[in-house]
Amino acid sequence: MRHISERESDLPDSVIGELIKIAQEDKSIISMGAGQPDFKTPKPILDYAKKVINKSTAYSNPQGVLELREAIARKLKKENKISYADPKNIVVTAGSQESIFMTLASTIDPGEQVIIPNPGYLAYVPAVELLNGSIAYVRLREEDGFEIDPEKIKEVIDKKKTKVLILNSPANPTGNVLSKKILEKISDIVVENDIYAISDEAYEKLVYDKKHISIGSLNGMEEYIITVQSFSKSFAMCGFRLGYACGPKKIIDAITKSGHYVTLCPPHISQLLGVKALQISNKYVEHMRREYDRRRKYIVPRLNKMGLKTAMPYGAFYAFSNIKHLSNNSYKFAKEILEKTKVAVVPGTEFGSYGEGYIRFSYATDLNFIKKGLDRIENYLKKNY
Ligand SMILES: Cc1ncc(COP(=O)(O)O)c(C=O)c1O
Repeated sequence: MRHISERESDLPDSVIGELIKIAQEDKSIISMGAGQPDFKTPKPILDYAKKVINKSTAYSNPQGVLELREAIARKLKKENKISYADPKNIVVTAGSQESIFMTLASTIDPGEQVIIPNPGYLAYVPAVELLNGSIAYVRLREEDGFEIDPEKIKEVIDKKKTKVLILNSPANPTGNVLSKKILEKISDIVVENDIYAISDEAYEKLVYDKKHISIGSLNGMEEYIITVQSFSKSFAMCGFRLGYACGPKKIIDAITKSGHYVTLCPPHISQLLGVKALQISNKYVEHMRREYDRRRKYIVPRLNKMGLKTAMPYGAFYAFSNIKHLSNNSYKFAKEILEKTKVAVVPGTEFGSYGEGYIRFSYATDLNFIKKGLDRIENYLKKNY
């Protein structure tokens, strides 16, 4: 009988996808929903695209063009202090999303367990579910600034089943940035329990008042950590679909092998642009980071003043606000805000069960729109709550 696989039909629909569609169709909507930069890709990268388009019409090496992997290895050594980074243990993928999925596909068998922070980036759970893995959650608490508690990781580890821990710093949706002290504790747990950790560092360049530290740079982590980074947020290159993973060679080889059957190779043109992105002046990234910082400093105090308690985010471009005093259903609340004020925000439940009671604002939106959007919400709340 013809049917859609259970694996596929059990997957939840993404509310964010629905929101983006609504916001695109109705121009009166101010979107603070989307998780992508509102900046254009830096001009030198776009100009370079015109130059190299003819060189990129063929498939590339499935692991990624050597010149890019060499540039990434230099970057990881210099910026992230990952001393063992080498073109051999780097694989380039279609966005970091593919790196995350392929790393999981290469490390877990059906029934094996992955530890996921909750609330956490919404793609982790479906990835494990598609692979028929099992999930253990580590709850992140507002009172801890949404910092992951290493003791809680220990509590959920199942000696037989747990294979992978997913870490995300700077974090989506909470903006938490993990300190060296916490990362050291986590690295001890990873070694003691002989598991892998995927370190999702998609927002590594968007950090405010703190420093980004790659857990892969800590002593003895070479065989345990798969560092995943992206060009999407750092260089406003979401549509080019370019990311990569750096980790133990056997995992990189496995990702390369299976990736070959899925995408064949990452987009060739994007890889050539990736080489350029790693050469351009830091001023382009810094310009975007400063602007996000400016917006962060506006949006967070304003949300708190409106009564929406919001922890100060130290990374990424999200504010995660507590709405528990207004509603016990963040999905319904976000929908109401959308319908009544025409401002799109994302319900916290998109990021896991412990996201209930929160909504996420993205400040990857022009400051004027942020101001207007918050005015609308403030007026609505004053009148109706
Ligand atoms: C935490 C996190 N990781 C990974 C990704 C995937 O990004 P990309 O596949 O564009 O690199 C996203 C996208 O929003 C994200 O928020």
